[in-house]
Amino acid sequence: MRVKIGDRVAGTFMQTWVAGEFSDQKSKSASGGAIDGLLAEYVTLHEDGVVHVPEHLSNEEAAALPCAAVTAWHALITEGKLKAGDTILVQGTGGVSVFAQLVGARVIATSSSDEKLERVRQLGAVEGINYKTTPNWDEQVWKLTDGVGVDHVVEVGGAGTLNKSLRAVRVGGGVSLIGVLTGVSGEISTASILHKNIRVQGIYVGSREMFEAMNLAIELHKMKPVIAQLFDFESAREALAYMESGAHFGKICIRFKI
Ligand SMILES: NC(=O)c1ccc[n+]([C@@H]2O[C@H](COP(=O)([O-])OP(=O)(O)OC[C@H]3O[C@@H](n4cnc5c(N)ncnc54)[C@H](OP(=O)(O)O)[C@@H]3O)[C@@H](O)[C@H]2O)c1
Repeated sequence: MRVKIGDRVAGTFMQTWVAGEFSDQKSKSASGGAIDGLLAEYVTLHEDGVVHVPEHLSNEEAAALPCAAVTAWHALITEGKLKAGDTILVQGTGGVSVFAQLVGARVIATSSSDEKLERVRQLGAVEGINYKTTPNWDEQVWKLTDGVGVDHVVEVGGAGTLNKSLRAVRVGGGVSLIGVLTGVSGEISTASILHKNIRVQGIYVGSREMFEAMNLAIELHKMKPVIAQLFDFESAREALAYMESGAHFGKICIRFKI
């Protein structure tokens, strides 16, 4: 038995991706995708599809982990193989990018808001760039890294930002393609990928094994995901509208009264 009555657990995003390589079959167990999601008062999950959550986290903080945090962990640690002293570029201040800032790298962050950039600096980012007032932010990243580029990019913009990320990353660096906030298709500078030996890796959340490895680090360092705002279940529609507005910093959570 992996769990017992009374344990505090979180569901894994891909219910059948326990470990090993991703597969088409595993993708068919994505919560909120192929199967029902977690916006429900009660759910039934297989014991293989849950993990124990770190004790120091509130229920809301623990709820911020299964998708955004596991995705950031998969990108930077499992695939990115981040090392001490590495520099990463995170785009925007949504759930994935804010958690990515916590994993221990030297962070350069972009945002559309100077106010939010102030908050990323408080979280420890060495530099923040406003991508609205500095549309050529890739040049700024270049200058900030003394013409070397960052080791890894957490790419959430997609088609509209990928070419800039390819310029901002160092020779031999990595780009984790996670989101497509600016669009799903566009012209891509394939020559940069080739000439710079860049690894462009698609990331789709992650396995239970990754989630559990991340939880060990979260427990050890007493890390806490950043919660932007809490909404009651009855206000779930407002929570979605708030997300759509892009005003948030970190994760938006919905609280159930049980
Ligand atoms: N592949 C996966 O497994 C996976 C997992 C989770 C999420 N995702 C996807 O990844 C993306 C981010 O997810 P999330 O949960 O972090 O979303 P989110 O919380 O809604 O974050 C959105 C934020 O992205 C920033 N943004 C928007 N357009 C941008 C641009 N052109 N350049 C830079 N930043 C921009 C904005 O930050 P500022 O307000 O600071 O400008 C915005 O607030 C979404 O597309 C989501 O669907 C994918």
